[in-house]
Amino acid sequence: MPTKAALSHIPGPPTPPIVGHTLTIARDSYGTQQDYIQRYGPVYKTNMLGVWRVNLCGPDALEMVLMDRERIFSSEGGWDALKRIYPGGLLLQDFDHHRRNRRIMTAAFRASAIRDYRLRMTEAMDSLLAAWPIGTPFCFYTAIKDLTLRMGGAVFMGLPLDGDLAKDVNRAIRDEIRASLAVIRHPLPFTPMWRGVRGRDFLRRTFRALIPERRANGGEDFFSQMCLARDENGQSWSEDEILDQFNLLIMAAHDTTATTLSVMIAALGEHPEWQAKLAHEVASLGKGELDEDALSKMTQTNNVFREALRLVPPVPFIPRLATRDFHWNGYDIPAGTSLALNPGVTMLSPELYTNPTKFDPNRFGPERVEDRSHKFAWTPFGGGAHKCIGMHFSTLQVKLFMATLLRKNRIHLPGRAPVWQRMPIPKPKGGLPIILERV
Ligand code: HEM
Repeated sequence: MPTKAALSHIPGPPTPPIVGHTLTIARDSYGTQQDYIQRYGPVYKTNMLGVWRVNLCGPDALEMVLMDRERIFSSEGGWDALKRIYPGGLLLQDFDHHRRNRRIMTAAFRASAIRDYRLRMTEAMDSLLAAWPIGTPFCFYTAIKDLTLRMGGAVFMGLPLDGDLAKDVNRAIRDEIRASLAVIRHPLPFTPMWRGVRGRDFLRRTFRALIPERRANGGEDFFSQMCLARDENGQSWSEDEILDQFNLLIMAAHDTTATTLSVMIAALGEHPEWQAKLAHEVASLGKGELDEDALSKMTQTNNVFREALRLVPPVPFIPRLATRDFHWNGYDIPAGTSLALNPGVTMLSPELYTNPTKFDPNRFGPERVEDRSHKFAWTPFGGGAHKCIGMHFSTLQVKLFMATLLRKNRIHLPGRAPVWQRMPIPKPKGGLPIILERV
């Protein structure tokens, strides 16, 4: 890790002792970044709890680092904080090793597998949504996190929706996710990290026991597909590899989708004209199965989805570690430097989007295509070798959810529009109370 002296030529704000810029960034991460970019330009340094980080801002930086043509930037080193809970997942791998495993994982995302996941999801969503209250306020964020986790039991693991095992598995997944965000990084007894490590051990034991049966008989869920997955040379994963890859996959899938659906629901409550547009689009699909053809016609829903991801991306920062010295935008940056990319603030840049803070899904329509103002103008799913492997799956999941919900319900916000916490992961302050009304 380079010292402050090695980065002395990089501009940055004055550094308060001990905590550095941690509190300022935690209080208002977007406002602070926008202020620093204005004062110091697209390359500046900050100190978070003693660790120096060089921030590389804007779409050019995203393109240079994520495309990584010279193989300099390590995702494993960047996401180091996840290592204790999620070692060996795709995000924690680099270069050739990563490429080999990504190829195998791709088999679990082939079209025929996605079709099976869709059928399972439709069934699970129907029964879980039917249990939501009508006419009385409830917190959407809590409800959608519960729904995606329970549905995950069926779609990701092939477990019955409400069996005891699904409940224990979901508790362990929650503990792991909390641990990955914990400030105390050692598993001291009764801390979130301790619970997370226990959760991880429980999941490994539980899923290891399922592998032989899934390898023998297969199944229409992600876990079974990952047990069977092979690359084009016929290579498959060992038991430990399956467990590590699967564990990261469920973490990557969970909060991201729940946050995005919350942003969409809040936007539809705030903008009734958009809710009417989406309800009309859903009605025009008829009452039949929501198959690939029907979902592909949900273009307005897709634009609302894209706008939600632009305004409140679930992954607003992408970390990397420089494995070699490199030069960018006038600065020499030494090997070992922690880097932060900022897709969140980039997607609010007035140079890329008109009225960037306004909810305006039409910006993605064919007349404006603002997301094409730069190859990396719209990057909620990242880019390059680590680009989200679940992007199409999450689009499918979001469309299915919206269609199932709007076929029977309308959304009202009983209070004011939510304020979004941006760090450590985006979520609506106050849990997003909503009221559903049957139509
Ligand atoms: C709205 C939903 C989602 C968003 C915004 C999102 C965002 C991202 C981003 C930004 C990355 C790249 C991180 C980096 O480069 O460091 C990523 C990677 C990843 N995502 Fe997603 N994701 C979403 C949903 C999902 C889902 C549903 C799944 C699985 C079904 C998934 C699985 C993964 C995996 C396994 C990786 C690591 C890929 C690799 O390293 O090669 N994500 N995601």
